[in-house]
Amino acid sequence: MVHQECIKCKTSYGIDEIVYFCKKCGDILEVKFDQKELLEKISGTDWKTSPLSVWRYRDLMPIHETTKVVTLNEGGTGLHRAQRLGSELGLSNLYIKNEGENPTGSFKDRGMTVGVTKAVELGARHVICASTGNTSASLAAYAARAGIKCTVLIPSGKIAYGKLSQAMIHGAKVLQVKGNFDEALEFVLKLAEKHKTIYLLNSINPFRIEGQKSLGYEICEQLNNEAPDRIIVPVGNAGNISAIWKGLKEFYQLGLIKKLPKMTGIQAVGSAPIVQAIKTDCDKIIPVENPETVATAIRIGAPVSWKKAVNAIRESHGTAETVTDEEILNSQKLLAQIEGIFVEPASAASIAGLNKLIKRGIILEDERVVCVTTGHGLKDPDTAVKMSEKPIEVDAEMTAIEEALGLRNKVSILAQ
Ligand code: F0G
Repeated sequence: MVHQECIKCKTSYGIDEIVYFCKKCGDILEVKFDQKELLEKISGTDWKTSPLSVWRYRDLMPIHETTKVVTLNEGGTGLHRAQRLGSELGLSNLYIKNEGENPTGSFKDRGMTVGVTKAVELGARHVICASTGNTSASLAAYAARAGIKCTVLIPSGKIAYGKLSQAMIHGAKVLQVKGNFDEALEFVLKLAEKHKTIYLLNSINPFRIEGQKSLGYEICEQLNNEAPDRIIVPVGNAGNISAIWKGLKEFYQLGLIKKLPKMTGIQAVGSAPIVQAIKTDCDKIIPVENPETVATAIRIGAPVSWKKAVNAIRESHGTAETVTDEEILNSQKLLAQIEGIFVEPASAASIAGLNKLIKRGIILEDERVVCVTTGHGLKDPDTAVKMSEKPIEVDAEMTAIEEALGLRNKVSILAQ
């Protein structure tokens, strides 16, 4: 039977129980399915005929059959062959899974459609999260769609404007906590513990992870039912890399793919506790007290799902790497200018990481690599404007415009 299970002591909880941490040992939970049951379920339905989306995989989601889903059509994002970027970086088989194509512009929608559906199924009327921006934007939208109350706690002055505007316009109660994301998350956890009517939708909520695992399923389906050699993911609170790995393992266990990819996590130099743990082969993370990076989405010092992420990287024989802000911004520009894909800085960390790992000889020229770009570039227009060529101001006259474009050469001037 499908249930929630502690990742450490394996204590089991029902899927209709509101519990975020194991009541016995305090560790985080994950949703577990009975494999035989799942096999029977998927062989008895025509799921392959539905369009690519999170709910194509409804049979693999821990939501009751009769529940009405809260959806804005999430998932089904493009897997773009990136030939020009690949040859620039020295890779023949590069793909970009562009999660900015989701309804609110980030991969969070995959988790929120399932998480908010679960919230409604459980009878919750008020949902909450802490966020560096995208989670709050997504939760606010899905709560609006469901007609329930939403509260978000964000670090003050440190989230990108596009994301803030989304949470505000969708009508969430927005609290800017004078502190960083990790502090905001601590308050949210305490609030959900103390006030049982408030349902928590940060990525420690295993139902959100269930929605996000569809990212792993989709990549394989888009590659004709094959996993790539490697998937590169920017890592913040570490829910997404864990979710993708969960999805891939499920597809593998169901016999839908024949091999598993190497999971590769990328963090910004100023907030890289998971990379540190992987590189030092440590069984614990050392939280970063004052995380810093231009990639505000992944400015996180104490990732709550670190254990799952470290496990995903080790189990898959993958790796983790840090990238500097400069490398992130250069990669953002490169992707925008040679592939036409505009992503926010955190997303570009996956490209920057790829570049570094190719140069170090860790990623080989013939590997089939998928970089996940997690959020749309319009989320953070300020950073994009700051690092681009400024518009040229011209008089409203043809000659001035031609001059600015370098079209007024000697011949055209003589011809006048
Ligand atoms: N990329 C983007 C654009 C994000 O918004 C996030 C996380 C990540 C990558 C990292 O994903 O946390 O699952 O490892 N943003 C969260 C938020 C923390 O609040 O929006 P993760």
